[in-house]
Amino acid sequence: MEPLGGRIPRLWGAFVGWLDERFPATETWEYHLSKYYAPKNHNFWYLMGWLATVMLVNQLLTGIWLTMSYIPSGEGAFASVEYIMRDVEFGWLLRYLHSTGASALFIVVYLHIFRGLMYGSYRKPRELLWLIGMAIYLVLMAEGFFGYLLPWGNMSYWGAQVIVSLFGAVPFVGPGLMEWIRGDFLMSEITLNRFFALHVVALPLLLVMLVFVHFVALHHVGSTAPDGADIKKHKDAAGKPLDGVAFWPYTVTHDVHATVVFLFIFCAVVFFAPEMGGYFLEKPNFEMANPLKTPEHIAPVWYYTPFYAMLRAVTYPLFGVPAKFWGLVVMAAAIIIPAMLPWLDRSRVASMRCKGLASKTMLGIFVVSFFILGYLGLTPPSPWATALAQVCTMLYFAYFVLMPWYTQVEKTKPPPERVTM
Ligand code: HEM
Repeated sequence: MEPLGGRIPRLWGAFVGWLDERFPATETWEYHLSKYYAPKNHNFWYLMGWLATVMLVNQLLTGIWLTMSYIPSGEGAFASVEYIMRDVEFGWLLRYLHSTGASALFIVVYLHIFRGLMYGSYRKPRELLWLIGMAIYLVLMAEGFFGYLLPWGNMSYWGAQVIVSLFGAVPFVGPGLMEWIRGDFLMSEITLNRFFALHVVALPLLLVMLVFVHFVALHHVGSTAPDGADIKKHKDAAGKPLDGVAFWPYTVTHDVHATVVFLFIFCAVVFFAPEMGGYFLEKPNFEMANPLKTPEHIAPVWYYTPFYAMLRAVTYPLFGVPAKFWGLVVMAAAIIIPAMLPWLDRSRVASMRCKGLASKTMLGIFVVSFFILGYLGLTPPSPWATALAQVCTMLYFAYFVLMPWYTQVEKTKPPPERVTM
């Protein structure tokens, strides 16, 4: 009788042959994994895309289990979240994995975007990859916003009320638009139901589809190297990039290692500081929604606060249209403008390592203003805070608007021919 050690590979080979005749299994495996090469000098910043994928899966899985016990009604929503926290077995863990997971996902996505700014990941031929990323970011923001209403806490209610009422400032159609979004004359159970449908079905589907095309586009054009070298230029006789490593098993091993470290930190937060002092889950949200009691200070969750600060920084009406509308325009422009980066960056080189002092300084100023705006969005408005927010908003936009100029006039270094370790 044939030994087991010979029979298993033979049966496996026969199975793969059968599968390949019916489905491009080996072809897909090789194209996306075993023959997909990434530069061998990938660093910390290149782990973020993978960690975003891990956190997205966490959100989808914990979300499904939370939905099993959640009741999307004005009467039931707040109480069902309390029930999940107190009575459902490990319900508290599911909820904290989901609420802390939302913040963790935004942290890694912001770091992922920052890597793009540093290494010029948005430049040719990755423009479409960048635009797909921007679409993911917009959908993620909407997903977080709709999800935040679901616990039906007082901050959920008033936060959504503030954001929806912004649309009321749009000239002519504003009041109608506001009513159309809410589905009612005030925030109500009808609003809660539609936000639930969008949060649980429509947007997760869209997100998964967008992330899939993000991967397809990435594997078509390949990853950048942090120093700007192009690994496709130098290949061996078999066509393998000399400066690349195969995604399977090398990058995967690297990513698994990073996942363990990341999950260790993530779990420490979930177990010991899931509310993060009110930054991940705000204090007024432990009270049920009350249309008659406005929280003392309404602020969105931290990942929206830079944009919220820009919204509040606009205090002047223009052309007879109230400041609130212009605030909305500035906020929308601030969120959308990174999509223009592939066409704003006129530099000869992609990576910050080769760019000049002007690009480095502008990126530094941009990051500092973003952080200051994030802080200001969390604090109650005051004259000095508004003035500072106005300055930081201008610096934020300056990074983009002046880019065609400063990327062209500065002195740059040529990127290396081969990757540098
Ligand atoms: C749920 C959200 C996202 C997931 C799961 C995701 C996933 C990934 C993964 C796994 C990679 C390859 C590994 C890496 O380079 O880090 C990648 C690369 C990339 N992503 Fe994302 N991404 C997300 C959001 C975004 C956003 C918001 C943007 C930009 C607006 C973006 C732009 C890019 C670009 C340009 C690359 C290629 C980078 C390079 O090679 O330099 N992604 N993404």
